[in-house]
Amino acid sequence: MNIFVTGGAGYIGSHTVLQLLKEGHDVVVLDNLSNSSEESLDRVEELTGKKARLYVGDILDKECLDKICSENSFDCCIHFAGLKAVGESVEKPWEYYNNNITGTLNLLAALRDHNMKNFIFSSSATVYGDPEIIPITEECPKGTCTNPYGWTKSMIEQILMDMAKADSDWNIVILRYFNPIGADASGRIGEDPKGIPNNLMPYVTQVAVGKLPKLGVFGNDYDTPDGTGVRDYIHVSDLADGHIKALKKINEKAGLCIYNLGTGKGVSVLELVKSFEKANGITIPYEIKPRRAGDIATCYADASKAKRELGWEAKYNIVDMCADSWNWQKNNPEGYR
Ligand code: NAD
Ligand code: UD1
Repeated sequence: MNIFVTGGAGYIGSHTVLQLLKEGHDVVVLDNLSNSSEESLDRVEELTGKKARLYVGDILDKECLDKICSENSFDCCIHFAGLKAVGESVEKPWEYYNNNITGTLNLLAALRDHNMKNFIFSSSATVYGDPEIIPITEECPKGTCTNPYGWTKSMIEQILMDMAKADSDWNIVILRYFNPIGADASGRIGEDPKGIPNNLMPYVTQVAVGKLPKLGVFGNDYDTPDGTGVRDYIHVSDLADGHIKALKKINEKAGLCIYNLGTGKGVSVLELVKSFEKANGITIPYEIKPRRAGDIATCYADASKAKRELGWEAKYNIVDMCADSWNWQKNNPEGYR
């Protein structure tokens, strides 16, 4: 198939492009490189011997989108492009709503105008807010988001539902990712956050590589087995595979479908630290800090719907994820720079 991947130079996008090329698909990437570099796609080419065509451009640029859709005939669009830093979204809400929502509306209009109505969207477990049901099923009601980033995901989901309802030619798969970590086993591509990481795993790997002195554990008084926050960490290669399986669903022309992509296992902050130490033989110094605003105690998936309907399930465990995250970081202490 010929697949249009927005945001394909980024962390999850590059891992998905890798698998798409390995599966024999043709890939066209649109990325403005605001949070990535071409280097990731050069490395994907090195790993596969195949090249994804890159347009450096913006989903806010309607002419650019029209040009790409005129020059190509796509079987599906996988839409990763977006801004994703929770804290920054609180400081720059307009930029987040504009980039993520206006950008997605532009993209949907271009695809519609060129009659290419197969679409896979990167959503997030953040849409559940503080979840009413644990483990979280797709039937769990969407909740109150604590930040503009989360609201962009929730609002885009609503837009997609309304569009699918109004026009049955759309085939849409919404994938709600839990906490993606890890890197391709080659150690050639991985997560490359700018500045001091906000998320747990990149912080841990930067402590391990000596760039940061110690980890702050945000709260040990939650109602969880060891008091620290519990999340569903999922290997980015498993996540990439979820998109390959979602493409098959798109071909069934099933309208709009929603799936959680997680392992179904909750892991606490301290368990993750211990797994990292065990996998890599490195001690991670840490100190307990106050809770981080907006955090919830527990969030993990019931991923049985994806298994049942997509034939997808996570293959990697937390020790594999820790080993692969470290393999990437130790071989690329400065990321792609
Ligand atoms: P990322 O920042 O590495 O990738 C996003 C890519 O989109 C980047 O390459 C960036 O340059 C590009 N981009 C941003 N705005 C753009 C625009 N206006 N036009 C063109 N390109 C643009 O992030 P990621 O972790 O790979 O996330 C991919 C998607 O998955 C995002 O939509 C994100 O919100 C979603 N998601 C990520 C996580 C996570 O923890 N990483 C969790 C849930 C959902
Ligand atoms: C964060 C985002 C969420 C996004 C998700 C995807 C916030 C509030 N939420 O979720 O919107 O969809 O990433 O990856 O940022 N922790 C520490 N010390 C650290 C960093 C994190 O103890 O330095 C703890 C957190 O309190 C939490 C766990 O580690 O319990 C995971 O945190 P993080 O990796 O930031 O992910 P989420 O908060 O789940």
